[in-house]
Amino acid sequence: MTKPTTSRLIGKPVQRKEGREKVTGAARYVDDITFPDMLHGTTVRSAVARGRILRIHFGDGIPWDEFTIVTAKDIPAKNCVALLIEDQPCLADGVVNHPEEAVVLLAHRDKYLLEEARRAVRVEYEPLPAIFTIEDSLAKKEIIWGADNIFKSFLVEKGDADAAMATAEIIVEGEYETGAQEQLYIEPQGMIARASAAEGVTVWGSLQCPYYVHKALKGIFGEPPERIRVVQTETGGGFGGKEEYPSMLAGHAALLALKSGKAVKMIYDRAEDMAATTKRHPSRTRHRTGLTRDGKLVAMDIDFTIDGGAYETLSPVVLSRGTIHAAGPYLCPHVRVRSRAVATNMPPHGAFRGFGAPQSVFALERHMDRVADAIGITPEELRRRNFIHQGETLAVSQVVREKVDMDKLMTRAFELSDYHAKRARFCAENARGGAIQRGIGFAAFLHGAGFTGSGEEYLASEAAMEATAEGRVRVFAGSTEMGQGTNTIFTQIAAETLGIDADHIEIVQPDTAHVPNSGPTVASRTTMIVGKLVETAAKSIQQTLIDNRLLAPGYRAAEFAPACARYIAECGPLKSFAKYRQPQDLHWDDEKYQGDAYGAYGWAVYVAEVSVDVRTAETRVEDFVAVQEVGTVINPVLAAGQVEGGVAQGIGFALYENIVWREGRMINGQMTNYIMPTSMDVPPIRVCFEEVPYERGPAGAKGIGELPLDGTAPAIANALAHATGIDIRRIPVTPEVLAEMLEAVHA
Ligand code: MTE
Ligand code: MOS
Repeated sequence: MTKPTTSRLIGKPVQRKEGREKVTGAARYVDDITFPDMLHGTTVRSAVARGRILRIHFGDGIPWDEFTIVTAKDIPAKNCVALLIEDQPCLADGVVNHPEEAVVLLAHRDKYLLEEARRAVRVEYEPLPAIFTIEDSLAKKEIIWGADNIFKSFLVEKGDADAAMATAEIIVEGEYETGAQEQLYIEPQGMIARASAAEGVTVWGSLQCPYYVHKALKGIFGEPPERIRVVQTETGGGFGGKEEYPSMLAGHAALLALKSGKAVKMIYDRAEDMAATTKRHPSRTRHRTGLTRDGKLVAMDIDFTIDGGAYETLSPVVLSRGTIHAAGPYLCPHVRVRSRAVATNMPPHGAFRGFGAPQSVFALERHMDRVADAIGITPEELRRRNFIHQGETLAVSQVVREKVDMDKLMTRAFELSDYHAKRARFCAENARGGAIQRGIGFAAFLHGAGFTGSGEEYLASEAAMEATAEGRVRVFAGSTEMGQGTNTIFTQIAAETLGIDADHIEIVQPDTAHVPNSGPTVASRTTMIVGKLVETAAKSIQQTLIDNRLLAPGYRAAEFAPACARYIAECGPLKSFAKYRQPQDLHWDDEKYQGDAYGAYGWAVYVAEVSVDVRTAETRVEDFVAVQEVGTVINPVLAAGQVEGGVAQGIGFALYENIVWREGRMINGQMTNYIMPTSMDVPPIRVCFEEVPYERGPAGAKGIGELPLDGTAPAIANALAHATGIDIRRIPVTPEVLAEMLEAVHA
């Protein structure tokens, strides 16, 4: 397939659909919505990491009879937030398993009195021993979940890694760690609920996945699906952080609403959001890599562990993606990846842009630079000798069908960043031992778009479309806009397919009462998977009009509305519907964890240039080049924005964002001491797309949303290693950490 040369809207910087509302302040976020007689809700949380609840004291001086008070015993049906399994209670009942676990809910009209009341509730515990590290969890120092603290484990095997390793001429080992990271969406979590025996439950809130919340509420309230309604309000970012937790918060607000008989609003402030909601899983990866003397991969043995926190949430899915991406875009005949997600008494870790891949890709790409060093070839040469090509087989035994050309991406990235000249120049300059040391490094990686394995088949996503007599077209899907561009991309696809103007397309607000389940807005799947459904639904409306001889192929835009009007007058509503169907040639074996893990991958090479002031141990990212192939680019401004934002988050992951834990509690939960990159810390980011249309994507597009987070941190860490000669094994490399390492080197 080639890019349509006639395309009016694909590849064009069509303006963000909801942009005007956002910049003028007209957009309505959940905290902008009020109901008459509405109460505010708050949460009394566990002060200990693990313990038995002995008593709950309601302190003096508070008019408790004015408050709605909810505990676990008020839950109408099941006390659990249903996701993959049902291990996480909506409210702690008898025991707590992590700090900040919700124990009591309060509601009152006056939110200031509410805060005083929250502080007046004291929960008395009998403390139980708790564990906080991957090591303690694996060592079963305390069994805190299931029989062995293991939420999930995977084994991926290709060939015979042990036998091949024995034949390797060189073996290089290494262990790598990444820390937790907060999603830091601009808008913290928030939800409003109404609930009654007569009408069921309705929630409005900031969320990524309306149907996840819907499922959880069904379980908590024991209501049939039609009596639960979930409406997404304008959402100020999610980054994975609004996949799991909104189900919990919706449950809380709805429980208070049911008991009080009033609408209840719960909005977290930044401190509560940081303390209580999910973060990126901390990880530890061990590599053992066998090669020939000239740098051909012979065997890879990878061991990947993530800390899931106290409940399972989406840890198995995060682990799965991290596992599949752990061996990267390389051809190696013998690979074994063993992985597990373990339980600790930390607040549950959850989805965060990249879903485990940024963790395992950091380890691999840092390791590859060390391997090159050990062999005595350049990092570039090592990658070039081992890049995967079309027709070759990835670690999960998936034959790559795409026309992948990693060499070309690398060459382009090196040209744009002047990599070779800078690498040589920095080496020479650094040798003179100045206060500022410079380095340049890169990472090569791939990122699968869409749900893993049979995930898309199982989801069986649906989208619908309706045209009005005025020729306006409405798109119905549960996919949410959270800044990444869903509304605009769907608009471009629908308008392009129908041959009409972008302003004739309307994206219906995700509301489970009105939109079909197009699956969760995760896994960079919206454009590629749901966008394709939008394209199919649009083609079907068009075909209906053509079949009824109301339009002829090649019609002009102005003919569309009259055709719709005539159809509706003569035949009734003009609607269409599209459902995902798994391509026949994609096969996945869930038992062996082998096969077509993803329908398509994005491919990329990122180059980072850093400078380090060896007196202050501060690292600056001076320049950044991001070259990727993600199929056809539907909207160049939004696509570049995805890369720029992802790189900024990756800079935070690599250099700044450090969560300080004490007994499982985040103690730097403020933006004054949890340091994220600001505009001053983000260099010019040069974004370049190599476009190879993907035949199954809408207009040839694949996914892009998460990919930029995978390669940024390892590119920076490799540049930092180049600048300082320090073997970076763990991120974030804050100035404090780097200062210690520099001292050790110079001591
Ligand atoms: N971009 C913005 N502006 N805001 C977000 O919340 N989330 C990221 C990414 N980019 C996010 C974002 C995550 S975690 C995912 S999975 C994808 O967008 C989801 O959207 P997509 O399916 O449209 O790529
Ligand atoms: Mo993204 S972590 O899949 O929401």
